[in-house]
Amino acid sequence: MELDKLVHDARAAFAAVAQPAALENEKARFLGKTGSVTELLKQLAKLSPEERRTQGARINSAKEAIEALLAERRAQLAEAELNARLAQESIDVTLPGRSRPAGGVHPVTRTWMRVEEIFRSIGFEVADGPEIESDWFNFTALNNPENHPARSMQDTFYVDARDAAGKLLMLRTHTSPMQVRYARTHQPPIKVIAPGRTYRVDSDATHSPMFHQVEGLWIDEGVSFADLKGVYTDFLRRFFESDDLQVRFRPSFFPFTEPSAEIDMMFTSGPNKGKWLEVSGAGQVHPTVVRNFGLDPERYTGFAFGSGMDRLTMLRYGVDDLRLFFEGDLRFLRQFN
Ligand code: DAH
Repeated sequence: MELDKLVHDARAAFAAVAQPAALENEKARFLGKTGSVTELLKQLAKLSPEERRTQGARINSAKEAIEALLAERRAQLAEAELNARLAQESIDVTLPGRSRPAGGVHPVTRTWMRVEEIFRSIGFEVADGPEIESDWFNFTALNNPENHPARSMQDTFYVDARDAAGKLLMLRTHTSPMQVRYARTHQPPIKVIAPGRTYRVDSDATHSPMFHQVEGLWIDEGVSFADLKGVYTDFLRRFFESDDLQVRFRPSFFPFTEPSAEIDMMFTSGPNKGKWLEVSGAGQVHPTVVRNFGLDPERYTGFAFGSGMDRLTMLRYGVDDLRLFFEGDLRFLRQFN
């Protein structure tokens, strides 16, 4: 009876503790050097050999029962401890991650990339040049005589520095100086586009002081205005991914071309249908300019064009205020990605 009670007490004591260390203390109370079971075993010495055998066997089985209870409780506590740790250290995979926001391509850059891709596919090189330009490249070489009123077509930003000729440098007002820079360093056939930033003292819904143009130039023997029409019409159809557009060449004036034209286009379907929209200046390169390329205008002819890439972007996406492109408002820009 006493042994049964002891086993019962041990079970209750082990169950009552919640910590492994406390369990080890309880173990000492029963199985330690001065523990209850040990005390009982010590008392066997006082018994007769007969009683010692039977009583000894009973104490031993009680001891084994307590040891089994202890092992069981140890395992329980270890498992509880592990579960507690797992719960504490677990990762909530449903939490949103700390991602880096993804960047996107600016709509004007998209246009720039498309323009390069289309012209490269028909054999044009792509050239890049300086945004700070000299008077000679920006104006004089393009057949704008000094003090000629044609210069006032462009309201220019001058830079407080001078070139070798003593003239003020300027932010290029168009990409056309790249015609001269490229043609003077390459041999015909010259077939190049030069996209880039350009600058004018101009600011409203359709003009920004900084804007983007792409210059095109094709010079070789026998290149004519008819080639301009073919190349440019094909470009527009590919750029807008539509054959539903008409192109017209309206007579105009530029000092560096003769004849000169404005290129207008009209969508024949969609929201802008029926309106003529100006997309480019163009023309047959003026003999004086061909001479400034270092070439003989009797032998080499060709065409040039200069198109507003911001304008092309506005038309492609139906944006009516150019300034939106340059304000950096992500709510606007995200719509293109
Ligand atoms: N450079 C002119 C401008 O910015 C555009 C232009 C017109 C470029 C006719 C050309 C051209 O190459 O042939 O207004």
